[in-house]
Amino acid sequence: MTHVIADVSAQPPGPAEPAPEPVAEPGTRATASLPGLRRSYVRGGLAEGDLAASWPEQFARWYAEAAAAGLPEPNAVVLATGGPSARTVLLKGVDERGFVVFTNLRSRKAREAAALPRAGLCFPWVALERQVCVAGRVEEVAAAESDAYFASRPRGSQLGAWASEQSAVVASREVLEAQRAQVERRFPGAVPRPPHWGGLRVVPETVEFWQGRADRMHDRLSFRRTPTGWLVERLSP
Ligand SMILES: Cc1cc2nc3c(=O)[nH]c(=O)nc-3n(C[C@H](O)[C@H](O)[C@H](O)COP(=O)(O)O)c2cc1C
Repeated sequence: MTHVIADVSAQPPGPAEPAPEPVAEPGTRATASLPGLRRSYVRGGLAEGDLAASWPEQFARWYAEAAAAGLPEPNAVVLATGGPSARTVLLKGVDERGFVVFTNLRSRKAREAAALPRAGLCFPWVALERQVCVAGRVEEVAAAESDAYFASRPRGSQLGAWASEQSAVVASREVLEAQRAQVERRFPGAVPRPPHWGGLRVVPETVEFWQGRADRMHDRLSFRRTPTGWLVERLSP
């Protein structure tokens, strides 16, 4: 698996950010200003000629720019499953096979993905006036791949994976802490990967690259899988 590179040198495109619009007067409810909250997207465009030859190359290019721009957690991605439900997870790998995230395989998301093995991903790189949206099939990654990633995690995270029955109701914080203390005693040495913890891969059918433009005339270029290969289509904004 090709892991996402965090240390990159590419520069973000476009001019400096314009000053943000004020969110709310002091003392007013911030949400009251939501209807008026808008800004123009002016950083640049995305033309067919700018696009890399494949979605993995184009994703790597934009990911590098998101990381170089100092976005906090540029690998944070919203994962939507068939509930419908959505939540943020961290992208841990990407290559021509798809996008890999790790989670508890008894969680709500994993149960939903097992029942309906399709998912959406959205990287909201708003500071760059960009998003990348993916739709496709979900599969579990090979056990060896999950083992390798689990082994690379800090011990605390490894214990947490055992201590938490993710998505299930828990009676209190104290109960959770007690579960954690119990697994700490159970695994004084190396922590094995829980059988119910592993990777999910979203195997894309579409990968859309969205670049904001002025007057909501945004650029949307989408790679779509066809029986004969990937097709690039421009979508209306
Ligand atoms: C920035 C961020 C990163 C997260 N990364 C992960 C992750 O990689 N894996 C994961 O299972 N949950 C992650 N979470 C927690 C999930 O958003 C979610 O609460 C959890 O997976 C349970 O979701 P579910 O009940 O819908 O299955 C992250 C949350 C945030 C805010």
